[in-house]
Amino acid sequence: MKVPFVSLVPLNREIKEKFLAAVEKIVDKGDFILGSEVKNFETAYASYSGTRYCVGVNSGLDALKIALKAAGIKAGDEVIVPANTFIATWLAVSETGATPVPVDAEKISGNINVALIDAAITKNTKAIIPVHLYGLPCNMDEVMQLSAKYNLQVIEDNAQAQGATYKGKPTGSIGHINATSFYPSKNLGAAGDGGAITTNSADLWKRTQLFRNYGSEEKYIHLSTGYNSRLDTLQAAFLNCKLSLLNHHNEYRIQSAHIYNELLKPLSELQLPQCNADRKHIYHLYTIRTNHRDNLREHLAAHGIETGIHYPLPPHLQKAYAHLGWKKGAFPVTEEISATTLSLPMYYGLHQHEIEYVCKHIKSFFG
Ligand SMILES: Cc1ncc(COP(=O)(O)O)c(C=O)c1O
Repeated sequence: MKVPFVSLVPLNREIKEKFLAAVEKIVDKGDFILGSEVKNFETAYASYSGTRYCVGVNSGLDALKIALKAAGIKAGDEVIVPANTFIATWLAVSETGATPVPVDAEKISGNINVALIDAAITKNTKAIIPVHLYGLPCNMDEVMQLSAKYNLQVIEDNAQAQGATYKGKPTGSIGHINATSFYPSKNLGAAGDGGAITTNSADLWKRTQLFRNYGSEEKYIHLSTGYNSRLDTLQAAFLNCKLSLLNHHNEYRIQSAHIYNELLKPLSELQLPQCNADRKHIYHLYTIRTNHRDNLREHLAAHGIETGIHYPLPPHLQKAYAHLGWKKGAFPVTEEISATTLSLPMYYGLHQHEIEYVCKHIKSFFG
């Protein structure tokens, strides 16, 4: 049997007809740039996220970069970032000219260890980017307390957590300005690149709208510098077909995670994902940890099971950040996670018998 790590086919099949009908309308109208589908999506996604405003942009990286720019982050500033994240979180900070200042992960969740943030704050620190990694919300109360104490902007990186909640609040609604990605394999994925910014601040919303469109509100009048980073109308149409199904798709992932948990819990060699009762994990990724990760991965591959590693080399050890001078050992928990983590197949439409097959082969590996 073959079990892919991700398949978009079952979900795409559900929305294909609706999407193709929407494409036909868009083509007939020639409504290509910031068309009505974009406006409709922004309204619907703001409402889903529990925020007043949403601005669609062309990727998650741009969403972070524009959110930081709108929040006034610039060269010479420092921004607290998780050591354990996809590199885009750091790249967005670098794009503004500011310096990413990493903080190590919590051992269990893998999210930023908020107890270590205080010690990383200097007079140049202007913002914190908590990342809800794998779909598991960070300790947002503590992050917001630090933000109030030191007057820091909070920019949630919600790329992996659309639909997750922290104490009943949607992630992406708690920070001052927040970013998400609609990369196709995300829980809410587009048919290509896409991203969005959410906020409750009218001022940040206006600045964000300028930055994504050449600094312009009115054609040929430019109030600021800016980018061409608009959410594409066809992508918005695809997202409009999917948004109302997102909770259902997330519940499917949660059920799959429960099946994995039940089947894998007898294996003492594995650390399984854990989630506090005050938050909802939406399992963008189902990650386990083991000291035998590479051999287990090979064993599963030999049985047709695809897995992923999130992430094999943390940003502080990447060549891209050699100039910051971080050495191996600087963030031991992140480095340990990087060496032991394994992401198992997880997607809407993954069958119970496929999960059973994966778990059977994990068990056979451990004898
Ligand atoms: C945590 C995190 N932040 C940011 C991004 C960047 O999103 P995009 O690929 O849409 O630029 C991703 C996507 O892979 C991500 O996982």
